[in-house]
Order: sequence, then C-alpha cells, then structure tokens
Amino acid sequence: MKVALKHGIYWVGAIDWNLRDFHGYTTRRGTTYNAYLVMGEKVALVDTVKAPFFEEMLSRIREIIDPAKIEYLIVNHVEMDHSGSLPLLKQALPHIKVFCSPRAEEELRLHYGKDLALSILKTGDVLDLGGKSLTFVETPMVHWPDSMVTYVREDKVLLPNDAFGQHIASTERFDDELGFDCILPEATKYYANIVMPYGAQVLKALDALKGIEIDVIGPSHGIIWRKHIPDIAATYEKWAKGEAEKKALIVYDTMWGSTEKMARAIYQGLTEEGIPARMYRLSTSDKSDIVTEVLETRGLLLGSPTINNGLFPKVAEFATYIKGLRPKGRISAAFGSYGWGGGAVKALVAELQASGMEMAEELQVKFVPDREALSACEELGKRVARKIKGS
Ligand code: FEO
Repeated sequence: MKVALKHGIYWVGAIDWNLRDFHGYTTRRGTTYNAYLVMGEKVALVDTVKAPFFEEMLSRIREIIDPAKIEYLIVNHVEMDHSGSLPLLKQALPHIKVFCSPRAEEELRLHYGKDLALSILKTGDVLDLGGKSLTFVETPMVHWPDSMVTYVREDKVLLPNDAFGQHIASTERFDDELGFDCILPEATKYYANIVMPYGAQVLKALDALKGIEIDVIGPSHGIIWRKHIPDIAATYEKWAKGEAEKKALIVYDTMWGSTEKMARAIYQGLTEEGIPARMYRLSTSDKSDIVTEVLETRGLLLGSPTINNGLFPKVAEFATYIKGLRPKGRISAAFGSYGWGGGAVKALVAELQASGMEMAEELQVKFVPDREALSACEELGKRVARKIKGS
C-alpha cells in the first residue's frame, strides 16, 4: 500500500514491531524507521532504514517506482538507524549521489569507509529536483552534531529526522489516524530519553522553522504529523524551555528496607505540604519510564543505601543516565541509609550537582531510621515541597 504525504512524496520506511530496547531506552511499542521518497523530475530518497530492514524499504520503493530511478540520497542524520542501509543502497544503486551536512561528512566516512563520495549541503542550500525542491537547515545536536532537516517548499513538507519522533510501530501512519492522545505519551518518552539534553538547540531549531509554512512533518520514527502540528510544536517548546509541574518524584532503591522507610517519610512530608509525589523503586521500575516523568516534574529526590562505600548499583545506573540527560531547572535532594562508613549520599550529591540540578537537601541515616530520623525525613520532604512551591 502506497503512503503519500503529498502528491509525489511517499513514506517508504520499515516497521520494527519487536524493538524493545533502543540504546537503553525501553521501547514497548516497537518503532519505525521512516524514509521518504520525493519525486520531482529527479527522485530523491531522504534517509534510509536500519540495515536489517533494507529489503523492506526497497520493496516499498518498488511499489512506487523502479529504485534505479533514485538519483539522490539525502542523509539527514548519521546514526545507524537511519544511515544503516547506505552501503546496501550504494551496492544496489552505484550511481546514487549521497548528500549530507558538513558535520556528517567525517562521521559518514568513519562509519562506511574513507572513500565514500559525498556532496555537502549547508543551511539554506537548495537541491532542485525539477517541480520539487529540497531546502536544508542544519540542526546540530537534534540529535547528533550532523543532524539537519529537509524541507519540500512546494508541498510544505518538513522531514526533520529525529525531531518530533516517537517509538511506535503501528499500521497507522498519520496522527489523525492514531490520535494525539495515543501518540503523546510516546512523543514525551522519546523527547525525555533522546532529546532532553538539547533544549537550547531545539529552541534554536524551532525558531529557524517559525517562518516556514508546514502542512506535514515526517519524522524519522513513528507517526507522521499533519493534524496536530501546532500541538506538538507547542509541546516541544514547553519541554525545550524546561517547564515542569510543581510535583515531585522520589526515586530510590533499598537493601534492607531502611532507605525505603526514609522515602515513605519524605513522601509524607511532600504531600502534607500539598506537592503531589510519586515513588519509584529502581529495582522494580524502568529508568526510561521514570525519566519520562522527570521531563514534566520539578522535584527529583534520589535515595540510595550505601554498599561498599558507594551507590547501590541500580541507583548508580539511574544517576549516570539522568546526568547525561541534564534536565533543566530541577530541584533535587539526596537521601539514604548506611551502616558504617557511608558514601552513597555523598556520591548522589555529586551526581545530582553534575546533572545541573539545584541541590536543596541531603540526609543520611545510620542503619534503621527511628521515629526521630523519620521525622527528619518528613521535615526534609516539607522543605523541598516549599522550595518547589516557590519555584
Ligand atoms: Fe533515530 Fe539519532 O537516530
């Protein structure tokens, strides 16, 4: 079945129903790798698919044209879920001319060999296909330094690669078919786990796109936007600015239950002060789901018992993950129980500070918290709540 975004612009991607892990991010609904065929007098393919899905892409292209008619390949982004089929495509179509951004040149050669012939496109460059033209805007760090977007001016179609994507495998291709409420949770999870560190660059990219008329946005993963473009653009702007709700997450793990007792007392303090809170024990929760909530939550309180003078393994993993994602404008606290030397809370404070969060409070308790210690935890929760309310 042909999927047309506009006359002469087709989705020719692949559906990965079984993907459950995308470099550490849990993708329960699978994903798609979206490639697009733009047909003027000349034909361009914008992006490819992950290498194992090359034949699926090729068979979709065959439903529309003879693949030998493709003259140009546009590489919007080097990451292998999009460029992975490049060597196979070059093998099948040796005449194809490959275009990429200046930053992608070295990266592509480091992936696929130093002899790869490439033509470079900079912001504002236009590739005339005859009847349709492709305009390019570099969008570094959305998602890699090489990233750029392709715009088909005649049809007002934007192909922004990773931006506006979601990991959803489905029969439906368009937002009006699946529904915004069904797409938004995956768009949120995608932004939180992939795009969150690059808020400043997203704002810059949104700004660059403001003067451009857009009827359709074809991202490189998931559903294509044509009805809810203002909704997803406004949501991206909110996320990129680091806007969050006045609520809190208590994320912890526990060895013999003491850190969990502390977490519950802190929860009590937060909620008594009117701040809605949720608790997640890391050994039974998924870090990429928690991070999705961090995107829209002002307070993050992290708890770890001390083991061998350091962090409990699941907490260490989460702290490393959140440090890389650098959520903006968050208020944080560190807590935990220890037996003799301590060390976990100190390590947590260092990790949270390195994430760029405001460190509001820290508290450690020796062995099992008694009534007095639990009351100190409750007070800590209240102080953090007041800080969140005043933010
Ligand atoms: Fe979907 Fe950054 O690759």
